[in-house]
Order: sequence, then C-alpha cells, then structure tokens
Amino acid sequence: MEARIGFAGDWHGNVAWANSRLQAFGAAGVSTVYQVGDFGLWPGSSGKRFLRTVESTCEQSDVQLFIVLGNHEDYGRVKLMRTDDAGWLYLKDYPRLRFATRGHTWVDAAGTRFAALGGAGSIDRNIRRPGVSWWPDEELTEDDCARLVSNVHGEGWQRVDVMITHEAPAGLRRLGITTAPAWLTPEVEAYCYAQRVRLREAMDEVAPRSLVHGHWHASFRDDWEGLTSTGVDYRCDVTGLPEDDNPSNAVTAVPVPGLGLTNVEVLRT
Ligand SMILES: [Fe+2]
Repeated sequence: MEARIGFAGDWHGNVAWANSRLQAFGAAGVSTVYQVGDFGLWPGSSGKRFLRTVESTCEQSDVQLFIVLGNHEDYGRVKLMRTDDAGWLYLKDYPRLRFATRGHTWVDAAGTRFAALGGAGSIDRNIRRPGVSWWPDEELTEDDCARLVSNVHGEGWQRVDVMITHEAPAGLRRLGITTAPAWLTPEVEAYCYAQRVRLREAMDEVAPRSLVHGHWHASFRDDWEGLTSTGVDYRCDVTGLPEDDNPSNAVTAVPVPGLGLTNVEVLRT
C-alpha cells in the first residue's frame, strides 16, 4: 500500500499556518510529517502557546510531527530535551513532537533510509539578541557533519534515501543572496556560507537520493548531479520548501527504498 508522508517548510511559530497544514495533512490521511526547521521553538509565552497548539492539532489530526531544527530556534531548550528509545529528542508535555539530533538516522517500516542534519547560520544575527532571539548552537558544525557520516557508515548504508536538512548545501543552482542588506557583514556571510559548504561535503559522503530543505524561503527543485568523496557520480532530487503562508509550504511524497522520494506533490487544502 502507498504510504504517503508529509514535509513542511519553515513555520516561524505561525500558529494559524501550522494548524492549517497539520489539519490538511490529517485530512489527506498523512500521519507522518517532517518539518524542516525554523519551526518555532521559542522562549516565553508565545513559544509555549505555539507548542501547545501544535501538539493539540497533531493529536486531533492524528499526525506525528518530526522536526529537524533550523537556526531560529531556542537551543537552550533543546539541551533540556529527553531522548526516546529510537534516538529522537522530545519534551515531556508534547508527545506528538519529536526533534532530530544532528546526524540522526532511521529506517521506516518499508525500509527507506532517512538521515537528518539540521542547523544553519542566521544572516541577520547582527540584529538579534543572544539567548533571546539568537542562539550560537544554530551553527552546523564539523562535528555534526562527522556524526551524520559516522551514523550512515555505521548502519552499513552506501547511500541515504531521504536526507532532511534546514540549510541548502552549497552549489545548488539558483540559490544565493543577490542584494545584501546593510546589516549583513562579510563576516556573517562567510559564517553562513561555511555551513553550506560543510553540509555539501556531508551530502557528498552519504549521496542521498532525495534531499528536502527549507531556510531560503523559496520553492525550489533541483536534479542535483553530485560527486562523492571517492569519485562516484550520484544524482539527488532536491526539494526546497518555502516559508509559512506560502501555498507551496507543505508537500506530500511516497518514500521508496532505493529510490528516495517519489510523487512529490504540493499539499492542497
Ligand atoms: Fe532558517
């Protein structure tokens, strides 16, 4: 039987939009949804309201939500999370939500091989406040990438079927900053770009068949032609998801072992 799963781009703590997508997934019979970061894990009352509402809507819509955290997230909160038996992080009061550690790998019931590598640099970090609206642990580090590669190789996988990231790997066509705002200094631009390069290097190690990312607030598809570190050609179907309030923010797809994602379609309501 076809097992359709869901993906959603950045939500930025947008309660109404998150609810509408979760309800649409539920109505479409999609019970496994991956959110690709800039989810809305925020401190204070607005952050709590978002989590409570998302948890409640997941419950009502029978959706289990798996989140690959981005850059605009409260990483202080992540440190307090517990780990379940499958290696996912979670918060005690929100059982419908699971959060991926960087480099987490898992296999679905059909045998599709998944890997997650969240994090990214904030281009606007110069105008954010540390610990309030910016967290240094947003940075996708060499250690994160090494953990992903180690986990994939430890599983004995030659390739990952579906890789889920927040950032887009360096080198994708048509993605880039064309007009830099004044607050974007060369140092911050270099800090962000270095993370895209790291992600690309990790990608080339695990040669995903499909990759889904967010962060760039653009709807994007690319038939990526890559080269592994050992000189083997590979192809990867890349899907970039736009942000909340964009009608293309959420998609459904059918994961197939050895193929990656098939039948990627925008979730309509
Ligand atoms: Fe982001």
